[in-house]
Amino acid sequence: MKILFIGDIVGSIGREALESYLPRLKRKYAPDVIIANGENAAAGRGITKSIYQDLLFMGVDVLTMGNHTWDQKEIFDFIDDVDYLIRPANFSEEAPGRGTVSVTKNGETLTVINLHGRVFLPAHEDPFRMADELVSEAREVSPLVFVDFHAEATSEKIAMGWHLDGRVSGVVGTHTHVQTADARILPEGTAYITDVGMTGPYDEILGMQKESVLYRFKTNMPTRFEVPKKGRPVVSGFFMEADGKTGKATHCERVYINADYPFES
Ligand SMILES: [Fe+2]
Ligand SMILES: [Fe+2]
Repeated sequence: MKILFIGDIVGSIGREALESYLPRLKRKYAPDVIIANGENAAAGRGITKSIYQDLLFMGVDVLTMGNHTWDQKEIFDFIDDVDYLIRPANFSEEAPGRGTVSVTKNGETLTVINLHGRVFLPAHEDPFRMADELVSEAREVSPLVFVDFHAEATSEKIAMGWHLDGRVSGVVGTHTHVQTADARILPEGTAYITDVGMTGPYDEILGMQKESVLYRFKTNMPTRFEVPKKGRPVVSGFFMEADGKTGKATHCERVYINADYPFES
């Protein structure tokens, strides 16, 4: 099974960049399943139902979320009605929505699990123990399992990679919006990258207009961070292949497209 993961889509620049590059990425990689992190898709903050529908229409099969899950109030009205949007599984038991989803493509079933880190972020349930539970449940159906671990600390994400090595096909980190250069297959067969990076404005600070972020750094005064509407994009992703019988990864690579690193077919 071939899996393409797209890192945090930020605002309209991110959505438009994905729309323009996805057909080329599909031709290049022929993915069976496309997963994207949508926690910043609505102007940097959360996701709306119409954006969810647009992204599925573009060809995204599953959307994962993160610390911005609840930023758009309308999410509470639709999260329990949509099939392919998941939020971190280790949120409170009281939280609406769910943290895993399975998709079947060309006769093979992949379970996608979304988890949230606890270092430098609000503490949720233990993501490592939650991963154990959800991975064993998923493996009863199919050895193809993919985890988006939305976390800030590189150490916590690397720890999750080792924790799940050999039990899932892939573990990717999201949230920092900056791609790391450490894509690899761990010794027991799990494809891994510490952070996929984001899909959004290339010339700003983590997708937010740099002037307001700089103002806050220089003055410590409160400012509202906005996602710009115009500008050059970056598309960040991760592509991997896994054996459908064993679930083990056979290949993985980074996807990174922008003005300095143009798309190569
Ligand atoms: Fe993000
Ligand atoms: Fe995040």
